Amino acid sequence: MRGIFVTGTDTNCGKTEVSLGLMAAWQSRGLRTLGMKPVATGCKPGPTGLQNADALRLQAQGSSRAPYGLVNPYAFEPPIAPHIAAGQSGAEIELGPIANAYRTLAAESDRMVVEGVGGWRVPLSTSRSVSDLPRALGLPVLMVVGLRLGCLNHALLTAESIRADGAHLAGWVANGIDPRMEASDANLATLAALLGSPCIGVVPWLSPPEPSELAGYLNPELLAWPPATEASLRPRGSAETHRRVELEQQDEPARAP
Ligand SMILES: Nc1ncnc2c1ncn2[C@@H]1O[C@H](COP(=O)(O)OP(=O)(O)OP(=O)(O)O)[C@@H](O)[C@H]1O
Ligand SMILES: [Mg+2]
Repeated sequence: MRGIFVTGTDTNCGKTEVSLGLMAAWQSRGLRTLGMKPVATGCKPGPTGLQNADALRLQAQGSSRAPYGLVNPYAFEPPIAPHIAAGQSGAEIELGPIANAYRTLAAESDRMVVEGVGGWRVPLSTSRSVSDLPRALGLPVLMVVGLRLGCLNHALLTAESIRADGAHLAGWVANGIDPRMEASDANLATLAALLGSPCIGVVPWLSPPEPSELAGYLNPELLAWPPATEASLRPRGSAETHRRVELEQQDEPARAP
């Protein structure tokens, strides 16, 4: 099993659309893929408690039906920063329940796509931030760059911060969220020259963005998985294992040394 943590240059940069597209891309390659949004705000009451629109979309895109509580262990109603929403409801966001939910879903899948909340440095409590989630889950990071004026600064700062935190930036996606953006080619060239990790896709403005269409713009084979992920996450010793290993080998010709 392999998984990826999806962060981005900001809220509304396209993390959910790219996460759904990536799930569809892996699914089209025969890989069972599940999605997670561990922490969400702006939730609405549903049949089993508070539910978030992103989490419901990730759940629906899954190769099998994952229980909502595992897809989104922390759901808060006010559409505000997570640690403030948690504080208002007397809760604290802990990494343990998120890691447990992740492990349960990961056992059922070949690929996991975990969407962050907001950007990389969003606080989850006074002592933790989004940046602690991929470390707790042992996941490399995919950065979604919402192509708009200011994205160079946001992308470079985010990449710098991901690396400074000791996380592995496995790749980035340029997402065309502003159909009127000027000089987007020059911005893309700048990002490619300065980010120092593979671009796994350039997604144009799509109206509306559909996961299956968006998947066509993504090349998950280009993700530069950290070598440790391969050793620690590859299952061993069964016929099923061999099938998965073959799939992984087909899936990752461009693996980093
Ligand atoms: N390539 C695209 N083409 C057209 N619209 C897009 C594209 N990518 C994202 N959008 C739209 O931009 C908005 C924000 O996208 P999305 O919800 O994926 O962002 P997000 O980073 O997940 O936001 P949040 O921080 O709230 O989770 C949505 O309305 C989405 O449909
Ligand atoms: Mg989202």
